[in-house]
Amino acid sequence: MRLNSPQINIITRACMKASKSLIRDFGEIENLQVSSKGPGDFVSSADRRTEKIIIDELQKAHPEYGIITEESGMINKTNFKNRWIVDPIDGTTNFLNGVPHFAISIGYEEENEIKCGVIFDPIKNEMFCAEKGNGAYLNNSRIRVSNKKKLINALIVTGGPKKTSSIQDQIFDEFVKISKNVSSPIRKFGSASLDMAYVACGRFDGYWQRELNYWDIAAGIIIVKEAGGFINFFDNNKNDTLKRNILASNSNIHEELNNLINKKNIE
Ligand code: IPD
Ligand code: CA
Ligand code: CA
Repeated sequence: MRLNSPQINIITRACMKASKSLIRDFGEIENLQVSSKGPGDFVSSADRRTEKIIIDELQKAHPEYGIITEESGMINKTNFKNRWIVDPIDGTTNFLNGVPHFAISIGYEEENEIKCGVIFDPIKNEMFCAEKGNGAYLNNSRIRVSNKKKLINALIVTGGPKKTSSIQDQIFDEFVKISKNVSSPIRKFGSASLDMAYVACGRFDGYWQRELNYWDIAAGIIIVKEAGGFINFFDNNKNDTLKRNILASNSNIHEELNNLINKKNIE
């Protein structure tokens, strides 16, 4: 692999270290599922445990960097120049149900721009990573987005809506609208970071989702871009930079997908 910034090395090390305990915890889930207590509390402690290992490792290298995390919130809030963005388990519901499809996602941002990122699926041992200007990789192989030309032939993935969403109907309508324009049924895999990673390596041709958190997709942004894909944050709330709507796809189908998302139903 030709990625060599100090930050990517730090992230990779943190992922490897945290994944050991995460794999152990995942092994416990099966036992807990059949117990009367269920895995609920255990999962939130696995989340916190994984995040702590990651934060300790990142802070060991740079105690002064800012960190945006899902579980612990913001650390070193005033450092906007250098920030890590961490989701310790992306795909918690899969994890909770013993479904082996979740990932650790860590991005690194400098002056508000993502410079590098890693998405690590510890069960499949797949590490997706990228660094600005140096390409995107899956383990040691260079990856590229797919070359599918038309939306009708594309394999598209999405996620949500959350039960608490105030725009559930809009999200369901959008799902129907896009479903009618593709031959293969839209996928929902339950891990936004892996959805992005799969677009980057061409397994999926496109991904869109509303109401995500920045840590779900921070690493994915640079991985998709460096793999030659296009990213668009549509309809974003400028006052809340930690909430994002995203469209990520190969360049060929990007416009068609974007137009469909933005097309009003009354037309
Ligand atoms: C969730 C996953 C899921 C997406 C949700 C996210 P979590 O993250 O990425 O695919 O649909 O919006 O919140 O809670 O598993 O870290
Ligand atoms: Ca997440
Ligand atoms: Ca999470």
